[in-house]
Amino acid sequence: MAVLIDNTDDEEVRRICAAHGDRPDALLEILHELQAARGWLTDDALRAVAHILNISRAEIHGVVSFYHDYRRAPPPRFVVKICRAEACQAVGSEELAKHAEATLEQGDDAAVEAVYCLGNCALGPAVMIDDTLYGRVDRVKFDALCKKYASGKEHAS
Ligand code: FES
Repeated sequence: MAVLIDNTDDEEVRRICAAHGDRPDALLEILHELQAARGWLTDDALRAVAHILNISRAEIHGVVSFYHDYRRAPPPRFVVKICRAEACQAVGSEELAKHAEATLEQGDDAAVEAVYCLGNCALGPAVMIDDTLYGRVDRVKFDALCKKYASGKEHAS
């Protein structure tokens, strides 16, 4: 008896693809929904999508690697955006960014990104952690905020 091997035993992938009629031209939407559901795109999930949509894995990998919004690894626990624009630079954002890169690489599972104006120029250095904006962030405040986010007590004031 032949055994049919397929990668479509992932119920969630099948449901998301079916919601788009299993159409290859809906690949971007399917990948976005899959990532929203799981946080990132695994090899197994991409194989399943390729099988269901009847497209090559190379085609999917081309799409995923072209668009930087798709994550191929688990997302960081929190994302820190430090404003590097002029008003914040004048009050110490460069030093704060160096401090962040030196301290957060020690395993807080955080990503540090540079941004250029968070619309909080009068209260620099401005920092956004996930979706929350903070002003006048010095090293002490930064460390305290990151400690709370790393511990899961998000959106601390
Ligand atoms: S320059 Fe930093 S918030 Fe505008």
